[in-house]
Amino acid sequence: MRKKIVAGNWKMNLSFHEAEALIHNLMDELEEAKPTAEVIICPSFPFIEMATDYMEEHLFKVGAQNISPFDSGAYTGEVSAAMLASMDVTHCILGHSERRKYFNEDDKMLTIKVNQALANKLIPIFCVGESLPERESGKHLEVVRRQVRHGLFHLDTDEFAKVIIAYEPVWAIGTGMTATPEQAKDMHSYIRTLIAERYGDEVAKATMVLYGGSCNSENALEIFSQEGVDGGLIGGASLKAEEFISICKQASIQDV
Ligand code: PGA
Repeated sequence: MRKKIVAGNWKMNLSFHEAEALIHNLMDELEEAKPTAEVIICPSFPFIEMATDYMEEHLFKVGAQNISPFDSGAYTGEVSAAMLASMDVTHCILGHSERRKYFNEDDKMLTIKVNQALANKLIPIFCVGESLPERESGKHLEVVRRQVRHGLFHLDTDEFAKVIIAYEPVWAIGTGMTATPEQAKDMHSYIRTLIAERYGDEVAKATMVLYGGSCNSENALEIFSQEGVDGGLIGGASLKAEEFISICKQASIQDV
C-alpha cells in the first residue's frame, strides 16, 4: 500500500502576507486533520523560504514551480535547482502547460530541466496533457505519448523511478471542467502502458501518476478513487486552506 500525493500549485498568486496567512492556516488544518496523503505545496519563489521554515513541522513538503535549465552563473533572473535544493525544497513542477504555452518550453528544454532537477535531487512533478482541439480530434493519446517519451524517456531506470507524472488536460486547467473519472482513468492507464514498454511493469506500477485540472473538494474523492490515480496536482483550490485540506483528506481515505 502506498500513500497518495496531493500537491498545491499556487502559481503566480498571493502577496507575502496572504502567503504567510495561507501557510499558517494550512499548518493548523493539517495538524488537526493529519491526512495520511503526502502533502506538497509549491509557492512562488519569494515565498519558498517561508514555506521551508515551517516545513520543519513535517506536515508538508515544499516544491518549486520552475527551475533554470542552467547550473549557475550569469543568467539574470533565473533560479537554479541547486539553490532550491540548498533550501530543502524537495520537488519541482516541470512541463506545466502554462510554461509550455507562455514561455515556449518545448520537449528539448524540458529534458534539460528534468536532468537539472534530478542532478540536484529535486523530484520532478512532470506535467503532460492535451488541449481541447487535440482531445476533440482524437489526438490526446498521441500528444501525451510524445510528451512522456520526449520529456522523460531519456532517463535510465533509476532516474525515471524518482519522477512523478501529472496528467493535466489543458482544457480542464482553471476552467471548472474536469476530465470525467473514465477519461482520467483511461489516460493514467495509457501512461502506465507507455512506461511499461520502456521500463517494465514493475516501474510502471510504482510510478506515481497524479491528476490535475479543476480538482476540488467536490470532485476529488471520485477522481482519486479511479484505478491508477495516485493523487492530484491542485491549482485554484490550493489557495484556500480549508478547501485544500478537504482534498488532502479525501486523498487519505483510500490507499492506492
Ligand atoms: P487548477 O490548476 O486546479 O486551477 O485547474 C491545476 C494546475 O494547473 O496544476
